[in-house]
Amino acid sequence: MNGITVLGLGAMGSALATTLAGAGHEVSVWNRSRARSDALVARGARRAETVPDALSRSELCLICVLDYAAVREILTQASSELRGRTIVNLTNGTPADARELSSWTTKLGARYLDGAILVTPELVGREASSVLYCGDAGAFSEHAATLSVLGKAIYLGEEPTLAAVRELAFLSAMFGMFAGYLQAAALLRSQGERVTEVTPAIVALLAEMSALLPETAAQIDSGVYPAPSSNNRMMQRALANVVGGSEQQGVGSELVRPIHALFERAVEAGLGDLDISALVPLLEVPESVHSTS
Ligand SMILES: NC(=O)c1ccc[n+]([C@@H]2O[C@H](COP(=O)([O-])OP(=O)(O)OC[C@H]3O[C@@H](n4cnc5c(N)ncnc54)[C@H](OP(=O)(O)O)[C@@H]3O)[C@@H](O)[C@H]2O)c1
Repeated sequence: MNGITVLGLGAMGSALATTLAGAGHEVSVWNRSRARSDALVARGARRAETVPDALSRSELCLICVLDYAAVREILTQASSELRGRTIVNLTNGTPADARELSSWTTKLGARYLDGAILVTPELVGREASSVLYCGDAGAFSEHAATLSVLGKAIYLGEEPTLAAVRELAFLSAMFGMFAGYLQAAALLRSQGERVTEVTPAIVALLAEMSALLPETAAQIDSGVYPAPSSNNRMMQRALANVVGGSEQQGVGSELVRPIHALFERAVEAGLGDLDISALVPLLEVPESVHSTS
């Protein structure tokens, strides 16, 4: 049982299996739609016809599918095979998902690692690739060398929610950037401009803005918010113009209204003279109303 099992052969699962096989590991694969394993099998991977068969072949089992409901559906088909396995779940999910799956798999006798892949499938196994892990420390140290084939293997700690929360933070930053860019593109098009012509200047602006983030982070961590050259009151007015101007141009304002509302709340709370970093506490819901679902 020295091989590795990969459950789920979508874009990401296929990249994981291909990379592991390319590094010389014996890889067994299973996917709900059987045909998706054909290409890997043609390159030497072993096809498993059922989930129990797939799990029985390896101590180390990676799973990467659409969501945790699918993970649970798959592993439930082989719950009696979980004992003695290391399950590395690289599916995106919430902290509650990770906690619940960790508890369920460990009760059934498996060691559980929750993970988050920080790159697209094309980059798996390349220099730029990083994968976050948390959960069973012994399982991680035993398999760290194997997992490093997929990208830099970063272990965050035993708490099973660590990777999920970090991944959701990264996705928040990424989707925030894309949301802003989609609004920019729609505004440019409303004026008959070519998005390709303006995009290099947008890229340069975002690079300058993102270079400010370490300083913003220091303010957030220290809770000391200096009076900046660009204060929240000024930005609230600019955002009101982004909302109103978009609507005048026939562009939807649904992406920008929430950020305008947050700045409005900041000004009402007396944070108008401060830097954007002062807005973070406004997003922090008191512990007592945290959702656990
Ligand atoms: N692609 C990326 O850029 C990227 C980057 C980082 C992380 N991720 C994460 O990686 C995970 C997989 O993403 P992906 O890009 O591989 O998605 P994908 O290409 O859409 O593949 C989805 C996979 O999930 C399987 N699946 C869905 N529902 C299922 C169910 N009920 N039972 C069994 N299998 C089911 C599909 O099986 P069928 O083939 O039978 O439909 C397929 O193998 C996601 O959690 C995603 O957030 C993706």
